[in-house]
Parts: sequence; C-alpha cells; structure tokens
Amino acid sequence: MIGKYINSVIQGDCLKVMRDIPDNSVDITFADPPFNLKKKYNGYKDNKEFSAYLDWCKQWIYEMVRITKPNGSIFVHNIPKWLTYYAGFLNKNAYFKHWIAWDAPTAPMGKSLQPSHYGILYYAKDLKQNKFYEIRYPHKRCRKCGYLLKDYGGKKAGLHPFGPLVSDVWTDIHRIKHNKYRNEHPCQLPIHLLERIVLMSTNENDIVLDPFVGTGTTVIAAKRLGRRFIGIDIDEKYANITKDKLSRESSNSKIGDVWVSFYLDEIATIRDIDWVKLAQYFLIPENIKDIDFTKIKFGRQITLLK
Ligand SMILES: C[S@@+](CC[C@H](N)C(=O)[O-])C[C@H]1O[C@@H](n2cnc3c(N)ncnc32)[C@H](O)[C@@H]1O
Repeated sequence: MIGKYINSVIQGDCLKVMRDIPDNSVDITFADPPFNLKKKYNGYKDNKEFSAYLDWCKQWIYEMVRITKPNGSIFVHNIPKWLTYYAGFLNKNAYFKHWIAWDAPTAPMGKSLQPSHYGILYYAKDLKQNKFYEIRYPHKRCRKCGYLLKDYGGKKAGLHPFGPLVSDVWTDIHRIKHNKYRNEHPCQLPIHLLERIVLMSTNENDIVLDPFVGTGTTVIAAKRLGRRFIGIDIDEKYANITKDKLSRESSNSKIGDVWVSFYLDEIATIRDIDWVKLAQYFLIPENIKDIDFTKIKFGRQITLLK
C-alpha cells in the first residue's frame, strides 16, 4: 500500500521501495539520479560500468512509469549523453512531451563543445489525459534599475504584465553557488527548479515521488506548494538531512490562496490560469495600460520602481 509512504522520506534502495508501490498511484515522478561521473557522494559509488549503469537506469525508469497515474508525468534529469538512452526506454512505456534544456554550465568533457545545459526529459503516461498547466516567469530586468532588459521593438504595451510563458529552454534558474544555501551534497538542485515542475504538472494535494531525493529538494518544493510527497535515498546521511529540513519547513509558498514559486522573495513562476486572481491580490487594475508594468517588480507584494 502507498499510504505508509505518504509524506515521508525513506532511507533505502529506490528499486526496492518503488516495487512495493502499486501501479498508477502517484501523480508525478521526478528523478535526478547519479550521473555516473565519479562524483563524491557520502556512500554511493558513482562509477558503474557503462552497460551496468544503463541496465540499472532502465529498471528504475520502468518503475517510475508503472507507479505514475495515467494522467501523471515522469521527469528525468541528467546530462544529454544518458538522456539519449533514457528516451529509448521511456518511448516504450510512456509518451514524449519535452526535452527541457536547463541552461546551466556543466563540467568540461575534454575535446568537445563546452556542455552548457542539462536535460530534463518530460514524459506523459498517457498524452490524452496528461495534467499540464501553462506557466509564466517574470520579465528579465536590469538588476540595478529594474527595467525590462529587452526592448521588444516598442511593443511593450502588448506584453503580459507579469512575464512570458515558459518555453522548453530554461535560462532563468541558476545552480546553487553559495555554500550558505547548500548542504553537504555534490549535486543539490535549486528548489525553484522543482517548484516550476510541480506547478506545471500537479494540483494541490497531489503526490510527488522522487527516488533519488538527496538533500530533499523535490520534497521541500512539494511541501511548500501544498502537495504530498515521497522521497527515497539510499544514503542515511542524506535521508536524515532531508527529514531534518522537512521538519523545519513550514512555509506555504502562496500569495492569497494562489500557489506560486519564489526565489529570494521575488516570484519565479506562476501558472497562467492564476494570473487574474494574482492581479487582484496585487490590486492591478483590469486595464493594465493605466499603470506602467515595465516598472513593477513582483514579490510577495508589488514594488513600484522609480
Ligand atoms: C544526483 S543526487 C540527487 C540530488 C537531489 N536532487 C538534491 O537536490 O539534493 C543522487 C542521489 O541518489 C542517491 N542514490 C544512489 N543510488 C540510489 C538507490 N539505489 N536508491 C536510492 N537512492 C540512491 C545518492 O545517495 C544521491 O543522494
């Protein structure tokens, strides 16, 4: 039964735990597995033989698809090299939606083009039933003055006041650089990356499962957004860090009754369908032309820039 796993972090082998979860029982699965790049984890040895690594990946990918509900989604994050094989496995059991290119510098690979994106494969268990919400990110602005960076050829009046729809290339979310924002883990993801995925593919109370939860990014994002979660990690130290962080996490990532994703107190992602309600909370007049939205910053409140 799945009930015993809900809102918990399990220290154990994800294959064993997922095999104990019934078919079609979680809303989304997100995996950020070890990349087999000899990274220094606390316990896990990140250096499997090529075919052993892929055989192993095939097994947990199969389990992820099996336990995802028919209207749910499967996400897998990795370097492009491994994703090309993952797509082959996934195409047999699920339906391709997107290859999201997350623009973030990665380690040089010798004589090659400098890798500068990670991929996130986004698959639907069933394309016709798939739950998906269009999402928006804030307009890019000058850090000092706050004004829009793009000129938009004098057509600013026609733009969405908050920001554009998110495409399949994500350039606005950066890796965690400062040690004060990260735990002792070699590859912790930023929380607002996961919040974006959760907002676009789930509803409040839905179940989000991460088989390689590490220091808890996915489950913290799910908790902040009012979703239920299941996190699994083989390493006791990482599982304990995640449990500890969850026990201290009490924030609801909301404006009024609308779930949104914040980064450093500014909104990083909203759902398109929530804009009308948010505009009311921000007291933005229906006729947006009355105010100069190019001089607005959206945080927990609205800030008018000079
Ligand atoms: C790339 S990291 C995940 C990082 C995570 N996304 C975060 O933001 O903290 C991969 C994790 O997989 C865990 N792991 C390795 N083999 C595993 C297995 N068989 N079952 C569960 N977890 C495993 C490692 O301990 C490591 O924490």
